[in-house]
Amino acid sequence: MTGDSHVWAKRLLVLGAGPGQLGLLEAARQRELYVIAADREPGAPGFPLADRRALISAEDEPALERLASAEEIDGVIAPGIDWSVAIAARISAKLGLPHPLSVESAQLAVSKLRQRERFAEAGLPFAKYAVASRGEEAEAAAAELGFPLVVKAPDRQGQRGLALARGREELESAVEQALAASRSGLCIIEQLELGREATVIGFSLDGRYHALAVTDRRSAAAPAFGVSLEHAWPSSLGQAELEETIGIAGRAAAALGIEQGPSYVQVIVGERGPLVVELAARLGGGHDAELVEAALGIELNGLALAASLGETIDPEALVPRALVGGACTRFLVAPEGELVAVHGVEEASALEGVKRLRLYREPGYVFTAFRSRSDRAGSLLVLGPDQERAVARAREAANLIRFEVAGSSAPD
Ligand SMILES: Nc1ncnc2c1ncn2[C@@H]1O[C@H](COP(=O)(O)OP(=O)(O)OP(=O)(O)O)[C@@H](O)[C@H]1O
Ligand SMILES: [Mg+2]
Repeated sequence: MTGDSHVWAKRLLVLGAGPGQLGLLEAARQRELYVIAADREPGAPGFPLADRRALISAEDEPALERLASAEEIDGVIAPGIDWSVAIAARISAKLGLPHPLSVESAQLAVSKLRQRERFAEAGLPFAKYAVASRGEEAEAAAAELGFPLVVKAPDRQGQRGLALARGREELESAVEQALAASRSGLCIIEQLELGREATVIGFSLDGRYHALAVTDRRSAAAPAFGVSLEHAWPSSLGQAELEETIGIAGRAAAALGIEQGPSYVQVIVGERGPLVVELAARLGGGHDAELVEAALGIELNGLALAASLGETIDPEALVPRALVGGACTRFLVAPEGELVAVHGVEEASALEGVKRLRLYREPGYVFTAFRSRSDRAGSLLVLGPDQERAVARAREAANLIRFEVAGSSAPD
């Protein structure tokens, strides 16, 4: 982008410049856009992709609002992070900017509790749950619901405040964690649902919901309970389950009044059929858009950009054309410690089907114990003739990559 084009380019504020925003920032760079990225981390990996970096937390609403006014932005987007979705909608409403979500829909979407109230009204199925603000309430809820239970903060994501309580002895700390993370002083306690997990990646256009892709989600076990390690396409669900799952995702979007823009719905398909875990009214933070583009030729990041600027979208742009038979996003996990070097990158990248390898952190970054999404070290996007082969290749590639941290020895 030349200096001159900045005068004419539309100005977009992107909330967050972390791993979850990389794909959108890259897509924005390929367009004639002037991008202001806001993130509180000076080392955020997405900053080099922006025209202007603002060291402001993506959750600091007053500061973001001032920035948005001063920068005379044309639109604002919060890809890959949840709470900021409502901030983006409120700032747009205040500044009179076009925005895909109404303030009301955005506010419903960022609360696991409020969205569930709407899902209940719409007759959508979800895990049995209770709400607690204190230990005793949690104990009473647990007695009613029975173990194992999942405890979560209603207004957080990325596994912050999320824990599995297999029995009474794990309940107290799970509740403490969730309440400490909670913005509302409440936590959700719900039954652990066993089954296969799916993500329905969707896009709404003028009130019509389009399910673009359904992926299998494979998540880590405790203590990193719930952290997604793999998204694989196409879904392994049978035809009837798949249709039911897609139907539920569309109803979930409708229940929250989502008429425009990207969303994804997490579903667990168990004995009772598909249950909604939650809906996010945004692009997924696990490079979902890149998988959709590589597998189906739909430029989902570009569509999200267009929606955030109020541009007209041609429905043709949502029509999938399968480019491959299978695709897998596999996340990389590093050992604890200060990153010294990453080995095996060339070997992994040279494997058949490996389309993209991302390393989220530079040497010097200190990895803490793997507990939540933000602890992931990188990702691979791998294609194959079908899901199984894409997954097998992705795991093989991931196994070739070694994170050398201070104190550990470099591989030979
Ligand atoms: N009731 C449940 N039964 C079984 N698994 C669950 C349940 N709730 C959450 N999980 C597991 O934890 C993962 C994350 O749950 P949830 O989406 O509620 O938390 P989150 O912090 O928003 O995570 P993310 O940001 O990855 O979506 C789910 O994908 C699933 O693997
Ligand atoms: Mg979630």
